[in-house]
Amino acid sequence: MYDLSQYEKIRVEPLTASTGAEIFDVDIAHIDDEIFAEIKHAFHEHTVIFFRDQNLDADSLGAFAERFAPLVTTYAREGEAPNPVGRMHRAADTPTSVRNLGDRWHADQSSREAPNMGVALYCLEAPRYGGDTLFANLCAAYEGLAPGLKAMCEPLIALHSLAGIYGTDGRGGVGTTKPFSYEAEHVRLDDEMLEQIRKRIEHPLICSHPESGKPILYVTGNHMVGIKDMNDLEAAPLLQLLNNHVVRPRFTCRFRWKKGSLAVWDNRCTQHFAVNDYAGFARTMLRAEMAGTRPIGLAMPGDTADPKPLKAAS
Ligand code: SIN
Repeated sequence: MYDLSQYEKIRVEPLTASTGAEIFDVDIAHIDDEIFAEIKHAFHEHTVIFFRDQNLDADSLGAFAERFAPLVTTYAREGEAPNPVGRMHRAADTPTSVRNLGDRWHADQSSREAPNMGVALYCLEAPRYGGDTLFANLCAAYEGLAPGLKAMCEPLIALHSLAGIYGTDGRGGVGTTKPFSYEAEHVRLDDEMLEQIRKRIEHPLICSHPESGKPILYVTGNHMVGIKDMNDLEAAPLLQLLNNHVVRPRFTCRFRWKKGSLAVWDNRCTQHFAVNDYAGFARTMLRAEMAGTRPIGLAMPGDTADPKPLKAAS
């Protein structure tokens, strides 16, 4: 049960027991430090927070996101200057056979040494129906693991690579039914991107949340390509089991977009899935990315102090 009476400046309505909360009585373009402290607290408690009826542009979205962490540009789009607040547009006449960015369960950038801390996604134009985003809480997923599986996973190191999504040539990877459309997404597939795609990065399978210290089952869909010191015959069934486990309905929530809606998620302890089911309608979003730090394992040193209770902090 959540203590919802602890909030004095905002109203928080959880979507489910594990994941997501809507926040009311806030105009994001005009908040002070006290309101932000409550928003940040709700962000940590619910891992993804949602707001309705906001009136933001790239600058005000970026300014809000920057209160959580410095902004970062993780990849450049063809013909665009690097910009940490990107515009994502899918035209109404795009056929469903063309994939959209994020139409599979994933956590952003787990194949980098320091994946993004979070993302703020703002809706400029929503489809009449469809185009929802689903979220899964990886701390709840850890808690929901059987004790024997927790003990087995704790010492393991997972191997992450963009090749799991894009293939080693950048043109389609495992676990996808259709190749990612570089043409549609205008991703620049240059030597730097290819080098990035071919790298393998090691992260602990069970991480520790850098702010709350909570254990995270850091499983990130087809960004994960193996387990260190296991061959594929051993690693593949374990990864399949864990990938199925983290997206069990009781660890998830689903958000319906409207113009003016905003979501902010903690990318260190969530996965998300952008559903490709709105052919015939346009969807336009602004997306601000926040810089993160290298994931740490349970036994690794890090700043793992529990966040103070809200009332004590204010
Ligand atoms: C993403 O960040 O994967 C896209 C999310 C969305 O468009 O809903």
